[in-house]
Amino acid sequence: MSVPTKNFDRWIRTSFVELNTELEELYFCRDDPAQIDGVGDNIKAVLLKEGQALVAPLAEEGNTEKQFDAAFDVLGNLGLYLASLRRHELTNPDLETESPYKACSALGMHIAASIGVVPRFATAHLTTHNKAISGVQKSFTSLDDERLFIDYNLYGILAFKRAGMALMRIPSMGVSAPAAAILLDDAKAALEQVTHHNKALFDRLNVARFFSCIRPYYKPYRVGKEVYRGANAGDFAEINQIDLLLGLCRGNDPHYAQILEEKILFMMPDDQASLRKCLSMRPILDELLDLAPANAMQSWFQKNCRLFLEVCDAHARTASQHQNMLVRKFIQKPSDGVDERHLKQITASGPPLPSLMDSLERLRDLRMAAPRGDIETAHEKLETLRALIR
Ligand code: HEM
Repeated sequence: MSVPTKNFDRWIRTSFVELNTELEELYFCRDDPAQIDGVGDNIKAVLLKEGQALVAPLAEEGNTEKQFDAAFDVLGNLGLYLASLRRHELTNPDLETESPYKACSALGMHIAASIGVVPRFATAHLTTHNKAISGVQKSFTSLDDERLFIDYNLYGILAFKRAGMALMRIPSMGVSAPAAAILLDDAKAALEQVTHHNKALFDRLNVARFFSCIRPYYKPYRVGKEVYRGANAGDFAEINQIDLLLGLCRGNDPHYAQILEEKILFMMPDDQASLRKCLSMRPILDELLDLAPANAMQSWFQKNCRLFLEVCDAHARTASQHQNMLVRKFIQKPSDGVDERHLKQITASGPPLPSLMDSLERLRDLRMAAPRGDIETAHEKLETLRALIR
C-alpha cells in the first residue's frame, strides 16, 4: 500500500468520522434537521480541505495499485468522501453539470474503469469488503445507529449469499437429486436468518437517527459528468440469483431485466460473473413443473417440491419484511413529515419516492408470488405445485 493510500485510509477511519459525527450532532438538534445550509460551515470547510489534501497525491499517483482489493479499497474511501461532501451539500448534482471535485472524479473513474465497477462507493465497500481494524469497520459517523445499520445490512447480505450459493448448485445436479434436498434446506435456513436479522434491525434502529443522519449519505452524486445513484443493500448478486433460480422473477421480464442491467456494475466483479452465469440457468420452478406429471407421486418429488415451496415462502417473508416493515418504517413514514424542498433525492436510487415505491412493491409482489392483475407473477405456478403436495 502506497503512503498516500495509507494516509487517506487512516483519515477516513479517524478525522473523517469525527467531522461527520460533529456535523450530524449539530444538524440533529435543530428544529428542522434537514435544513443544513449555513450549519457547521467551519467543520464542513475542514472536511473539504483535509480530504482534498489527501486525495491530491493519490490522484497524482493514479491507479498504480496492482491488486484488485487495494484499488477497490481506494475507490471506496474516495466514494465515502464524495458521499459525505454530497450529504453536507458541498456538492449537489442538481446544481452542477459536472462534479466540482475533478481530482476525485478522475481517480475514481480511472480505478473503476480498470476494475469494472461504478466509480463511486458501493455497498460492498461498507459491508463485505469493509476491512475491520481492531474490530471496527469503516463508517461515515460513529453513531450507534449507523453501526447497527451497517452490521445488519452485512448480516442480511451474508445470509442471502448463503441461500443464493446453495440454490446455484441445484441446476447442475437436477432438482430430483437427493442432495438437492440438503441445498434447499440450507437455502431455507439462510433465508430464515435474513428474516431474523431484518426483525432485529426493525426493532433496534432509531427512525429519526436513520432518516436524518444515516440515509443522507446514500444520495446520488456526480463523478465527472455522470450522476451515480446511491448504494443500497441489494447490490449483490445472490438476491437476484434467488429470484431467478426460484423462478419468481424472469430475466426476460423487461422491468426486472432493467433492474439487473442497472445494478450489475454496482456489484463486485465476482458477483457480476455469478449473476451472468445464473441468467443462463433453468429456474427450479420450471424443472419441477416439467417433472410433475410423471413424478408427482414419487417420494423425491414430494420431499424436494415441498422444500422448494418452503424456500419460496421464506424468500417471500424477507421481501414482505423489507417493504412492509423496513421501507415503510424508515423511509415512507418519516418522509410524510418532510418539507417538499428536502424530499427530492430522499431515495438512494434518485427517482421520486412514489415511483420508487411502485417499483419496490412490484419486486415485493414478484418475490411473494402475489396474485396481481397487472403483472405476471409466479402465483399460479406455485399454486399448481402446492396442490400436488400431500
Ligand atoms: C433500515 C433498513 C432498510 C431500509 C430503510 C431499506 C430501504 C431500501 C430502499 C428505499 C431501497 C430502494 C433503493 C434506494 O433508493 O435505496 C432498497 C433496496 C434494496 N434493499 Fe433495502 N433497506 C433496508 C435494509 C435492507 C437490508 C438489511 C437488506 C438485506 C440485504 C436490504 C436489501 C435490499 C435490496 C435487495 C434492495 C434492492 C431492491 C431489491 O432487489 O429488492 N435492505 N432498500
